[in-house]
Amino acid sequence: LRPRVWVSQPLFGDLVGRLREHFDVIETAAVGTHPPEEIAAMLASCDGALVTLNDRVGAAEVAHAPRLRAIANVGVGYNNLDVAALTRAGIVVTNTPDVLTETTADFGFALMMAAARRISEAERWLREGQWRQWSFETMLGGDVHGTTLGILGMGRIGQGIACRASGFRMRVLYHNRSRLAADVEGACRAEYVDYDTLLAQSDHLILVLPYSPAVHHLVDAAAIAKMKPTATLTNIARGGIVDEDALADALQSGRLAAAGLDVYEGEPAINPRLLALRNVVLTPHIASGSLATRRAMVALAVDNLTAALGFGPRAGDPPTPVNAMALAHPRKPGISK
Ligand code: GLV
Ligand code: GLV
Repeated sequence: LRPRVWVSQPLFGDLVGRLREHFDVIETAAVGTHPPEEIAAMLASCDGALVTLNDRVGAAEVAHAPRLRAIANVGVGYNNLDVAALTRAGIVVTNTPDVLTETTADFGFALMMAAARRISEAERWLREGQWRQWSFETMLGGDVHGTTLGILGMGRIGQGIACRASGFRMRVLYHNRSRLAADVEGACRAEYVDYDTLLAQSDHLILVLPYSPAVHHLVDAAAIAKMKPTATLTNIARGGIVDEDALADALQSGRLAAAGLDVYEGEPAINPRLLALRNVVLTPHIASGSLATRRAMVALAVDNLTAALGFGPRAGDPPTPVNAMALAHPRKPGISK
């Protein structure tokens, strides 16, 4: 019997089709979030899986999946996976870094600009037929060029955003768990500051850090209180980093000028208070969503899964593993029933 892999939702058929060279492929046609029981049931008979951030996989979901050896996440962030539990179970986890860096940086910049210049709000106003009310003070926003950009999380995407900022003659501040090497800082023209300084000095603050419980609600009421009332906050990282009620309070009271959000704590559910506010641009988790990049992410995930299960030109050596430890101590190849 050929190994069996589960593809958790419709992804580019031509790319996913490459898996059929080595595997029996089960594709779930329904988009959206699958309940834990369904995920467990699918994984129970599979050797590998291609999943997205909608699919949460931890100890419970793999408890009855004796053959499962690899999970390829289509996405750079993998907080949907309990990597520690999967590593203990000997299951290789992979993600899709690098291929989405520039596209995601483009979007972060666009969302920040949309928030600062009130682009969504202005379009709604136009479509509502309000142009006759136009005055010289219609939809006045904040400037982007020449202001101070703050980047929280200075990985590849953060660095991509920093590079874009020099074209806008922005001063770039960043905070990160660890400081970048001096040559990288120089290339990004970015200055390392502590978190409080980042909050206090940024005209536009962009969140690009990976989610972990340690950064849950890192941007809370106390943090927002340290920001300039004219500032914008843009989140393209993960929703749980921001206390959405505190953000809604600040946007409502004018304590913060505007926000751009691509990610939400309870997505696909949106905090109704945010939906009711004019000064927040809301997009549905599409920062990496250019056609070329979404295809590159799926292609990389397919290569990862193929290699992690011991096939293809990189058999045993997936291009972008998350838990190299599980690669060193793999599960025994599956015993087919
Ligand atoms: C999307 O949010 C990703 O992590 O790739
Ligand atoms: C990942 O965290 C990245 O910034 O690429």
